Amino acid sequence: MNFKQDNDASALENSQNHKNRDNRDISIKQNKDADKSGESAENQYGYILEASSLADALARKLGRRPCFTVVNFGCQMNARDSEKLRGVLRDSGFEETENEDDADVVIYNTCTVRENADEHVYGRLGHLNGIKEKHPERLIGLCGCMMQERRIVEKIKKSYPFVDLIFGTHNLGEFPRLLVRALSEKKRVVEIIESKKTVEENLPVERKYSFKSGVNIMYGCNNFCSYCIVPYVRGREISRTPEAILAEVMKLRDDGVREIMLLGQNVNSYGKGLEVPETFAGLLGRICRISGIDRVRFMTSHPKDLSQELIDAMAEYPAVCPHLHLPVQSGSTEILKRMNRHYTREDYLALVGRIREKIPDISLTTDIIVGFPGETEEDFKETLSLIREVGFDSAFTFIYSKRTGTPAAAMADQVPEEVVHERFDRLLAEVKKDAEARCARFKGRTMDVLVEEANKQPGLVTGRIPNNLVVHFPGSKELIGKIVPVRLDECRGFYYIGTAEETDGV
Ligand code: 5AD
Ligand code: SF4
Repeated sequence: MNFKQDNDASALENSQNHKNRDNRDISIKQNKDADKSGESAENQYGYILEASSLADALARKLGRRPCFTVVNFGCQMNARDSEKLRGVLRDSGFEETENEDDADVVIYNTCTVRENADEHVYGRLGHLNGIKEKHPERLIGLCGCMMQERRIVEKIKKSYPFVDLIFGTHNLGEFPRLLVRALSEKKRVVEIIESKKTVEENLPVERKYSFKSGVNIMYGCNNFCSYCIVPYVRGREISRTPEAILAEVMKLRDDGVREIMLLGQNVNSYGKGLEVPETFAGLLGRICRISGIDRVRFMTSHPKDLSQELIDAMAEYPAVCPHLHLPVQSGSTEILKRMNRHYTREDYLALVGRIREKIPDISLTTDIIVGFPGETEEDFKETLSLIREVGFDSAFTFIYSKRTGTPAAAMADQVPEEVVHERFDRLLAEVKKDAEARCARFKGRTMDVLVEEANKQPGLVTGRIPNNLVVHFPGSKELIGKIVPVRLDECRGFYYIGTAEETDGV
């Protein structure tokens, strides 16, 4: 797996005038307005009712229900945010469509972390521009991490005047109100606050899967790794209270959810600012004691904060899946220092040792950046040797890319592009070599598979074992959402072909 993406989307600088947006008025809220945001959930429900009247009026005009699409460009946190956007739009009476070209409301939930994610957004905005010219009444909204960068918002305002609604990551809880404004006002609506004071609770959510769900436990990040834009666009860490999280998990359980993914930029520092402090391990234990939740996953873990208490809790509670995503970023202590990661190569290896001692079968996955400023051939070789020493089940590999405003962007000795690409290919080869053999280690065993979907190939369904590996096996779509014991007959690279035990020999 890797996120090296083709630079296939040229940033179309489009400065055409759009008649319907000429007189749009722009309001950017700064910090001083932050207190007015975070209105109560009841208020937001009031706005959903207002939005549904507007959607009904639109339906009468169109002669059909208006429809929407939400396109997600980012990580699991973004995906969860998108589920909230979908929930609000659905509860407001819009129907979901996969096809952007047909949607009356298009929302792009953007990302600034993944390589070229912003270029993809600009490229796709070029396409939307064409649609908007034919259908000026359509509503186009942009939100997510990119919108927290002032220079990007300025560029969009100037070059993409057909965008109707712009809001940031901290305004998500107010999406119902913003939707009402965008639907009813004949002006462009831009609302961005620079930090979150409260966390959004109880927005309606349209989940992608009925049987598994993400649950935000905290927002933001305090770590300031020198390459990373997240602390600037997602703000400082705020933890939700354990009570709010447990209530959400119980509600999901009552709704048929069997697998929970706890989400935060650095879940291991959960709970620090709470009135009644709680640790992540403590929270994990409380969630695992909720009956009916069969699987609990979490991401992401920063190695510097991963406590022995957490390793013990992972080993103690059977519901915690034996999979840990533990981004290492580099195998060189010198580079880790420049990255401001606060651990050494040796610390990381010792941590892996402690984890494997308690949970021998655990699957470890990681993130690795290649070509960080100052990375020498020797540093890079240390990354390759760390991969061999740890034995990751898979790794997300990233080419370092400058993020304006981060300390690394101003560092001297940026690595030449051709060197980075050559290293990237060697990195991929190294990751693949070990990972394939490691993934095959469950071959012949029978393991529980949570069935997620019908396979494109008729007669097959697809699910995951607790370690997160994908399994395809013969079965019908009635199995979706069920946990089925499956014998893992054959490993093909990073997935298995299996046979359900109950249907074995039938
Ligand atoms: N360049 C390359 N990769 C990055 N990541 C974060 N910022 C950058 C950047 N500027 C990677 C890190 C992180 C993952 C989510 O994205 O590996 O763990
Ligand atoms: Fe970015 Fe580092 Fe925070 Fe992860 S821990 S979100 S890499 S600053």
